[in-house]
Amino acid sequence: MNILLLGSGGREHALAWAIAASPLTDKLWCAPGNAGIAQEAEIVPLDLGDHAAVIAFCRANKVDFVVVGPEGPLVEGIVDDLEAAGFKAFGPSKLAARLEGSKGFTKDLCRANNIPTAAYERFTDANAAKDYVRKMGAPIVVKADGLAAGKGVVVAENEKDALDAIDMMAAGGLGEAGSSLVIEEFMRGEEASFFALCDGTNAIALASAQDHKRAFDNDQGPNTGGMGAYSPAPVMTKEITQRTMDEIITPTMRAMSAMGCPFKGILFAGLMITKDGPKLIEYNTRFGDPECQVMMMRLKSDILLALIASRDGMLKTFDLRWHSDPALTVVMAAKGYPGHYAKGTLIENLDKAGAIDGVQIFHAGTKAEGGKILANGGRVLNVCARGKTVGEAQTLAYKAVDTIHWPEGFCRRDIGQLAVDREKNG
Ligand code: AMP
Ligand code: GLY
Repeated sequence: MNILLLGSGGREHALAWAIAASPLTDKLWCAPGNAGIAQEAEIVPLDLGDHAAVIAFCRANKVDFVVVGPEGPLVEGIVDDLEAAGFKAFGPSKLAARLEGSKGFTKDLCRANNIPTAAYERFTDANAAKDYVRKMGAPIVVKADGLAAGKGVVVAENEKDALDAIDMMAAGGLGEAGSSLVIEEFMRGEEASFFALCDGTNAIALASAQDHKRAFDNDQGPNTGGMGAYSPAPVMTKEITQRTMDEIITPTMRAMSAMGCPFKGILFAGLMITKDGPKLIEYNTRFGDPECQVMMMRLKSDILLALIASRDGMLKTFDLRWHSDPALTVVMAAKGYPGHYAKGTLIENLDKAGAIDGVQIFHAGTKAEGGKILANGGRVLNVCARGKTVGEAQTLAYKAVDTIHWPEGFCRRDIGQLAVDREKNG
């Protein structure tokens, strides 16, 4: 089959690596890709916002299947446009992608279907939002309704921070995304990322993972897209996984079908495991980044078959096999990320680091120039490893990190530490 993968991050490098390994893959292109993806796929410089150009490429190259990585094109309806042009595509329709594109849509769906989530109200009027904050008190969470590249959530420890966040969003600080607000109860517990593969009717649980969102060790510093992850998440026991499927994923699938927009693709539930059980923080409608990287490290089955079964509505009898060994990834980012950072700095010893047994390096923001690899983004590399324990995977990943020579980069040194401590203490 001829496959086109859309995206350019570490998530897409991991997907490209897995798709390239499928015996079904004859030819793999990736647009716009990065220097690492170029080792697995032919890179094509398409603008993902230009759906007509993507369709023209598919037509000219007899593409059989398109895999969409990031949320932007999904929310913009690229799957609808590709399907309307006669091309099979993996991922949700524009209407189904509202589960990620509008937090208010998801909250209303939860309320209507008794799906456990934080109590909330929606506002378009800043003064009404402020009155609500004053009534409820802190801690409280202020969210922009629309996509805001990970910056749309303010967990306010005190009332003043919440009121300031409302002012910032109402003043257009997040653009159109902040014109409508969700204000919700602060939930306590342990967070986990949970992934289900869906075909419109059926959902199968994939692996779970734990993300590290803050920039610095011990969860200090600003929120980022994710500085590292490991899979599985120990908090996702068999019982919690089953409850998540029964109380959150399945009712969501049913509700989406009933509304005439059945959900296909990856349903990525950000969960808070509270003392009352799993509660939904938010949905994403694509693989997590960097969670996808550790999941691909653990997947034994053919990913391409699974993605096609999702598109074709054939997951009912589908089964995916996983390595029971955990996997861990450390994100190496450019110094200054998630704020201002330099591009174009030289990264060396990647081959040596990648040759360590059990280690796999996925590129996020890189480009190749004159045979050299240069940093070309905020999050730049995902250094991944699989081991018998999280501790072993962690040791291997940091051995590879320390082999890479990139003075302008940094990483957290405590990825997976909670799980490693748990292993040590039984
Ligand atoms: P989100 O972008 O919705 O995933 O939110 C970013 C982060 O904010 C989450 O990973 C949580 O750590 C935190 N968060 C969001 N909503 C809540 C909530 N209702 N209670 C506690 N923490 C929250
Ligand atoms: N790592 C979180 C995300 O992909 O949204």
